[in-house]
Amino acid sequence: MSSLSALLDDYNPLDPETLIDPYSYLEALRAEAPVYHCPKTGLYIVSTYALVRDVLSDNELFSSEFGASLGGAAVPQEVLEVQNQGYPAVNTMLTADNPEHKRYRGMVNKAFTPRRIKVIAPSIEKISSDLIDGFIQDGCVEVLSQFSVELPLSVIADQLGVPRTDLPQFKRWTDGFVAQLGGMAGPEGAVEAARLILEFQHYFADRLAEARDSPREDIISDLVRARVEGEAPLDVAESLSILQQLLVAGNETTADAIAEGCWLLARHPEVQAAVRRDPDLIHNLVEEVLRLASPTANMWRVAKRGTELGGVEIPKGAFVLLSFTSANRDESVFSEPNRFEIERKNAREHLAFGRGVHVCVAASLARREMQIAFRDLTERLGAFSIDPTAEPPRHRPNILLHGLSSLHLRFDHA
Ligand code: HEM
Repeated sequence: MSSLSALLDDYNPLDPETLIDPYSYLEALRAEAPVYHCPKTGLYIVSTYALVRDVLSDNELFSSEFGASLGGAAVPQEVLEVQNQGYPAVNTMLTADNPEHKRYRGMVNKAFTPRRIKVIAPSIEKISSDLIDGFIQDGCVEVLSQFSVELPLSVIADQLGVPRTDLPQFKRWTDGFVAQLGGMAGPEGAVEAARLILEFQHYFADRLAEARDSPREDIISDLVRARVEGEAPLDVAESLSILQQLLVAGNETTADAIAEGCWLLARHPEVQAAVRRDPDLIHNLVEEVLRLASPTANMWRVAKRGTELGGVEIPKGAFVLLSFTSANRDESVFSEPNRFEIERKNAREHLAFGRGVHVCVAASLARREMQIAFRDLTERLGAFSIDPTAEPPRHRPNILLHGLSSLHLRFDHA
C-alpha cells in the first residue's frame, strides 16, 4: 500500500480518474486519515465503516439538507432561467431532515413493503425474461442498453402507473438528473440537464393532475392521496421531488448494481458455475455484489454545528462526504475486502443501502430485481465472459453514483 503522504499531492476526490478508480486512495485514507479534510475541495471525507455508520445514525448533528447548498452559488444564469419555468426544488426524503423527513417517508414506505414486492415479483420476472428473449439468439449482449437499464426502468414505470412507451423519455430525464447530481456536465451540459428536468416536471405534473381526477392503484395516485394523520397533503413541488428521487434512485443504482454483478461474474467463471449448481447462493451473491459495487459510492451530509469526528474538528456548515465505497471495503470488517467471495458470511453487513432513518426505502425491491436478474442470466445464457472484440468496460466519473458506461459480454447459449 502507498502511504497517504505519498498520494496526498495528487488526491482530488472529484477528479474524473479518481472517481473511476478511487480504491488505492481510499485504502490509504482508511489507514491514516479516516476523516480527511481535503485542501483541494474543502470536503471532509469519511472513509471507515465505523465512522460512516456513526454519521449515518446521527441526524441531530449531520443534516441531509444538502440539496439547495450543492448547486447554490455556482448555478449559471441560463440554468436559472430554465429552472424558473418549472416548479421550485424542495427538500424531500433524501434531502430532508426530521420532522419533514418522517412525514415524506411515511407516505412512500407503503409502496415498497415486502408484501408489495411479493406482488410485483412476477412482473419483474416477466420483464427480465422478455429482455433476455431479445438477445439470447445473438450469443452476445451489451448489458446496459439491452438489459440492466431497462429492467428497473420498466419496473418503476409500472409502479408509477405510466406507460412503458414513455420509457425512452424516462431514461433521458434520469440522465439529466444524474448529470446534475454528478456535477461533471460543464456549463452546456448543466443547461441541457435543467431542460430535461423541466420536461420531467411538466410530464409528471400532468400525471399528478390526472391521478387527482381519477386515482388508480399506483404510486402517483398514492402521492396524490397521501396523508399522514394530522399532516397536510403533498403539494405538486413536493410530489415531483419524490418522483424525481424514485426515478433516479430507482433506476440508475439498480442498473449499475446489475451491470457490475454481471462484470464480476464474467471475470469469475467459477462463481457462475457455483451459482448454476446452487441457485440458493444468489441471495448472498447479491449482497456481495452490492458490497463491492457500492452503486451509491458517496453521499453528502452537512454539519449542523461544529463537532469533532475521528479526532478531526469539523466546522458548522462543512460538507461531509461519506464514502460507502470505502466503508464496504474496510478491512477491519470485511477480510480480504477486495476479493469477490460469494460465500462471505457477513456480506449483508455492507452499507450500500445506507443505515438509519434514510436507509434506502426500496432496498427490498432492488434486492429482488438483482436476484431475478442474476438467476435468469446465469440460468439462460450459459457460461458468459467479457467480449474481447468490443470496447472494454469502463466506469463513468460521478461523485454519487458509480457504474459502468457499457459492458459487452459473449455467451455459450445462442
Ligand atoms: C442497488 C440499488 C440501490 C442502492 C445501492 C441504493 C442506495 C441508497 C442509499 C445508500 C440510500 C441512503 C442515502 C442516505 O443515507 O442519504 C438510499 C436512499 C433512497 N433510495 Fe435507494 N438504492 C437503491 C435502489 C433504490 C430503488 C429501486 C429506489 C426506488 C424505486 C430507491 C429509492 C431511494 C430513496 C427515495 C431514498 C431516500 C430515502 C430517505 O431519505 O428516506 N433506491 N438508497
